[in-house]
Amino acid sequence: MDLKKKIAVFASGTGTNAERIFEHFKEHPQIEVALLFSNNASAGVLNIAKHYKIPTVVFNRSEFYDSNAILNRLVREEIEWIVLAGFMWLVPESLVNAFPNKIINIHPALLPKFGGKGMYGMHVHEAVKAANETISGISIHFVNQQYDEGSIIAQYSCQIEHSDSAAEIAKKVQRLEHENYPKVIEELVLNQV
Ligand code: GAR
Repeated sequence: MDLKKKIAVFASGTGTNAERIFEHFKEHPQIEVALLFSNNASAGVLNIAKHYKIPTVVFNRSEFYDSNAILNRLVREEIEWIVLAGFMWLVPESLVNAFPNKIINIHPALLPKFGGKGMYGMHVHEAVKAANETISGISIHFVNQQYDEGSIIAQYSCQIEHSDSAAEIAKKVQRLEHENYPKVIEELVLNQV
């Protein structure tokens, strides 16, 4: 009997965070990454999932927003947690309501600063640089109906030097993401009913 708790990862792009998550849970006794969902048929993350033998589902806008296809699949596969790892679409209300406090996201800045619509990937680091911030970091938070506004689960910060380019800030932040996201997911999944 398979008693592992099942996670689905949603990702839109390269998938370096997804990769760390797949690796972390590869032989985990209690948690399994059961599915990878992507809205982007050419996303690098699909090849990474294949490498880890994780089944993938590619969907389009109307399947996501105007049908129950994704929700039905999640229920059918007994998914308990949804982990967004570089997923760039707003999660529809029907999914948020079906998974209350069971959808988590990672954002590459210290929310509530530098969040909201249009704030993703390099845009975030460019804004941090333009604002002359001396620290940045990551925010792991529950997902609600607004971009980047759900309650915060954990934050980690790093020092920004005045001479750091946006790309250098991105690198520092990415290091924090890779180090911390899988561990935070593990802790949540194991400790929340
Ligand atoms: C990550 O830095 C993640 O925090 C960010 O996209 C990147 C995806 O990289 N997410 C957002 O900006 C969400 N608003 P990855 O594909 O290499 O994991």
